[in-house]
Amino acid sequence: MSSYAPIKVAAYLLRLDGALEDGNYDIALTDADRQRAAEIRSLPQRAAFLAARKALRELLATRLSCPPAEAPIISGPDGKPRLASGNIEFSLSRRDRWCAVALSADAPVGIDVETVRPLAGMDEIVAEFFPPVVRTAFASAAPDQRQIVFFRWWTRIEAAVKASGRGLDFSISCFEGVVYQTCEVVPGLAVAVAVAGEGPVIIDWHIRNLNSYRN
Ligand SMILES: CC(C)(COP(=O)(O)OP(=O)(O)OC[C@H]1O[C@@H](n2cnc3c(N)ncnc32)[C@H](O)[C@@H]1OP(=O)(O)O)[C@@H](O)C(=O)NCCC(=O)NCCS
Repeated sequence: MSSYAPIKVAAYLLRLDGALEDGNYDIALTDADRQRAAEIRSLPQRAAFLAARKALRELLATRLSCPPAEAPIISGPDGKPRLASGNIEFSLSRRDRWCAVALSADAPVGIDVETVRPLAGMDEIVAEFFPPVVRTAFASAAPDQRQIVFFRWWTRIEAAVKASGRGLDFSISCFEGVVYQTCEVVPGLAVAVAVAGEGPVIIDWHIRNLNSYRN
């Protein structure tokens, strides 16, 4: 039996539909958030950024007992977003109409969500970014399983890279000192959470339409 205290993580998989049409962000966001949004040229991507940012701020605000716009999100030199004060670690990912957020008071976390889809250049990405053990798993997958195997590992790698904050340059060694878990309960979606630390890890998954994610 492990002598380590469990690392607890809350992971939210949020369908953005309602929020994308809502467009009411004034109270939840900061001027810096709006400035970042204005720099996103694609309107659907800008709407997704705003909706996801609002969701992240509201989840953090609940933990910090403050208004959403006052959750002190900053970007470190490595680009990893952090809180300037408060002991909550967090991570965010967006893909199409989905957003994923991980929160933990115990350890740095990373999360990634991807739609399982045809992708050109999978073999080249595997050869360049995936650790050797994963290359073997991908090479031995049946042809009709290759997409799901690819995105299962892609999300684990991205989540691990985000947890450590080291960037994709370290993707080959990204699983060192990291524990990860995958959620594939939504057909066509791959989601992974990674934690920088040693297990055991307890992940509390919440899958919601954004308008009702507090339930
Ligand atoms: C930036 C990166 C951390 C994730 O990018 P992504 O998968 O394209 O996008 P996601 O939506 O999953 O994540 C974006 C979020 O990651 C967070 N993020 C950005 N830089 C980060 C860093 N250095 N560490 C941790 N999190 C970071 C931010 O919260 C960002 O959200 P925001 O734009 O709303 O602020 C990085 O891994 C990257 O550049 N990926 C490119 C994709 C790729 O080539 N993947 C190869 C697969 S192995």
